[in-house]
Amino acid sequence: MRLFHPLSVFVFVILSSFVNASVTVYHQVPLADSTTTASSANYTGAAAYDPTVLTPPPVPTGLTTQFGIQLSSSSAAVQGLSIPHKGSFMGFSIEFTVINQIFGINATYLQVPFLNLMAILRERAGEVLIRVGGNTQETAVLVDSLPGGVMMTKERGTTGDVTATPTLLYTAEVFYTMANISALVNTKWFLGIPFNDTNNLRLGIAEVGEAVLSGPGYLLGFQVGNEPDLYAAHDVRPSTYSPSDYFGEFGLVVNAINSDNNIPVKNNLVAPSITGEWTPESVWDTGLVGSYSSSLGALAVEHYPSDNCYALYGIGSPVIPQDVFQNFLTHASGINIVAPYLNSTSYAQSVGKPFIMMETNTASCGGLPGISDTFGATLWALDYGLQMAYSNFSGAMMHVGGQDVYYNPFTPPPTNQSLFHQWTIGSIFYSTMVVAEAFGPSGNAQIIDLQANTNSTYTPGYAIYENGAPVRLVLLNYVSDPSGASAYTATISIGGSAIGQDNATPAQIQVKYLVAPSVSEKSNITWAGQTFGGTFQSDGRLTGTESVQTINCDQSSNTCQVTVPAPGAALIFLSSSAYAESGNPSTQTFSTTMVTKTAATVDPSVLATSNGMSGDTWKLGSTSKGSIGAGLRTSLPIVSVVGAALLSTGMLCTWFWS
Ligand SMILES: *[C@@H]1O[C@H](CO)[C@@H](O)[C@H](O)[C@H]1NC(C)=O
Ligand SMILES: *[C@@H]1O[C@H](CO)[C@@H](O)[C@H](O)[C@H]1NC(C)=O
Ligand SMILES: *[C@@H]1O[C@H](CO)[C@@H](O)[C@H](O)[C@H]1NC(C)=O
Ligand SMILES: *[C@@H]1O[C@H](CO)[C@@H](O)[C@H](O)[C@H]1NC(C)=O
Ligand SMILES: *[C@@H]1O[C@H](CO)[C@@H](O)[C@H](O)[C@H]1NC(C)=O
Ligand SMILES: *[C@@H]1O[C@H](CO)[C@@H](O)[C@H](O)[C@H]1NC(C)=O
Ligand SMILES: *[C@@H]1O[C@H](CO)[C@@H](O)[C@H](O)[C@H]1NC(C)=O
Ligand SMILES: *[C@@H]1O[C@H](CO)[C@@H](O)[C@H](O)[C@H]1NC(C)=O
Ligand SMILES: *[C@@H]1O[C@H](CO)[C@@H](O)[C@H](O)[C@H]1NC(C)=O
Repeated sequence: MRLFHPLSVFVFVILSSFVNASVTVYHQVPLADSTTTASSANYTGAAAYDPTVLTPPPVPTGLTTQFGIQLSSSSAAVQGLSIPHKGSFMGFSIEFTVINQIFGINATYLQVPFLNLMAILRERAGEVLIRVGGNTQETAVLVDSLPGGVMMTKERGTTGDVTATPTLLYTAEVFYTMANISALVNTKWFLGIPFNDTNNLRLGIAEVGEAVLSGPGYLLGFQVGNEPDLYAAHDVRPSTYSPSDYFGEFGLVVNAINSDNNIPVKNNLVAPSITGEWTPESVWDTGLVGSYSSSLGALAVEHYPSDNCYALYGIGSPVIPQDVFQNFLTHASGINIVAPYLNSTSYAQSVGKPFIMMETNTASCGGLPGISDTFGATLWALDYGLQMAYSNFSGAMMHVGGQDVYYNPFTPPPTNQSLFHQWTIGSIFYSTMVVAEAFGPSGNAQIIDLQANTNSTYTPGYAIYENGAPVRLVLLNYVSDPSGASAYTATISIGGSAIGQDNATPAQIQVKYLVAPSVSEKSNITWAGQTFGGTFQSDGRLTGTESVQTINCDQSSNTCQVTVPAPGAALIFLSSSAYAESGNPSTQTFSTTMVTKTAATVDPSVLATSNGMSGDTWKLGSTSKGSIGAGLRTSLPIVSVVGAALLSTGMLCTWFWS
């Protein structure tokens, strides 16, 4: 099902401001219609399944493939270590209009593939952060009920916004759906207060959202305004709309919330969620944070480093994917994106607020064919995410749109294909898994950019410290070289006489690899030997046998050698406790016998009373990994969890993984 009828492309009037803007445009023809890349020239299907394959950038000359990494054994000796992070650092920003496709129809019918994906992250990081919003949050209306009993629907053409954003109508069932998801996989939510008319505020989302979600601690906060620096360009505010106007309107929301007894939590607002049309400093300099400190829970921005707007709408300048592919495949990309925010992350620390990248991805206007869904994007998002963490952001939400975008971390099949197709797991989901494991659940992980290999832009590396000691390393190799000649070997030492410390190099380390044959690859991406497969192939569980390398270190030289393939990344665990803390070994290695045993303990009466899930469906969904393809094809992808919610969490996890 397409979200909106594919009418003619909406005509835009504004334009320069579109570049780098994270605008979601509705009423569009399938994105792929307008791509010009050779291999997709005749492709007219949805962007999420676009087959474009680009040529990897040439192998750089003079790459050093042997280098040392000397770590200090104590964080006290490390300059520039980040603030502490959790494994939930990288989360998702989900367009409000697609939540009924991604979460499920209602609180009773949840999408099991989505739950499985979130369970994977929860197991590694303890929780998953999700922002639900986008342009539609501004005009969304909470209503008592909707025709047909659905939890949301769209009314087209009722807003003035030139993006032709539909008005979204939704019921409180949306919050119950979120609460039920949270109860299963510990998702925590950011929402947005409608900001299209601050003289007639609609605070229902905060009143009802908090009543349902904040008790169990699932509600993180409310964005006040989405991309206000684009309001003038989108024609929803006067052309003179400025940071001081935003300051004034933000104050109206603060006052309304402070005098609303149905909103008990007053200090979880998020501002300003700007895209870069305004500098963050221009907002800080209005005095917003000082004036409303007791209302603000977090500061946030949204940003895309590139855009595909010209290909779609003739807006801005053409971006030819093949020409810009290489720009994503260097350490400089993340550094350059983050640079304009360094002053603000420092400012945020000085005022005691987290600073969050609330919406980001490879490129606005849907992403770029042949880039946004490839292993190149996996490495890019991993490096960019870690760079944000190193730069003292406190979270980064990767955007998820509908079928019409190239960059989704996960895409459900079009509704009318859900009986015979499964989900498509995008290449960026792998990045979120690695970040979750790299930081783990402690909330105490600090990261440093190692400037490895004398700052080679193709071979970045990071070290993660916890409680003062180094625990994990992430090493990346952006080079795509099938000859194998560009694989590099890092020789790692911890402490030791070279830096005047006691030797702390372990006797052995464990390594998980993130690999694919090339940066252009879309489906054969593996994490520690396991994969979600390609288009329409996943039920949200990793398949294949997990493979983790154990490397013995050289005790005489106190060094450990790790080879990183080209392309690829390695997550290195410096101790068995650092390995175990990150959810290893992970539960998808449960044997068939264990699964059978667990399934057998499920009370059949629970199944019988649960809507939409017959015993047969359960059985099919519970078979061992080997039968996923055959089994799930015939089962409904949407399975009730109402009955299952009565089960213990531990059992549920087993169920999802089984
Ligand atoms: C694409 O379409 C053109 C024009 O219809 C046709 O000549 C060409 O063979 C098609 N290419 C493929 C790969 O189908
Ligand atoms: C949830 O959706 C199902 C399937 O459409 C429907 O039968 C059920 O009544 C809905 N539940 C609620 C609470 O609306
Ligand atoms: C704001 O959104 C509401 C709900 O969609 C709509 O009824 C109202 O007309 C909008 N107001 C303005 C000023 O755009
Ligand atoms: C799940 O959703 C239903 C509404 O359909 C609600 O009654 C129930 O309390 C929810 N469960 C949890 C754990 O939030
Ligand atoms: C950093 O931000 C603060 C607060 O807006 C501002 O006063 C200061 O001038 C900024 N510094 C730089 C170097 O931009
Ligand atoms: C991050 O914050 C820490 C602690 O305040 C600071 O030492 C470090 O320099 C900051 N890093 C960056 C890149 O600003
Ligand atoms: C699904 O719906 C789309 C749009 O209505 C249609 O083009 C397509 O053929 C349908 N596919 C199936 C398998 O029914
Ligand atoms: C690496 O590059 C950064 C800027 O990107 C610079 O600040 C730093 O000094 C460089 N380090 C080395 C070892 O060259
Ligand atoms: C998948 O990629 C790996 C390298 O990452 C390669 O060894 C393997 O042969 C590939 N498998 C397929 C089916 O292409």
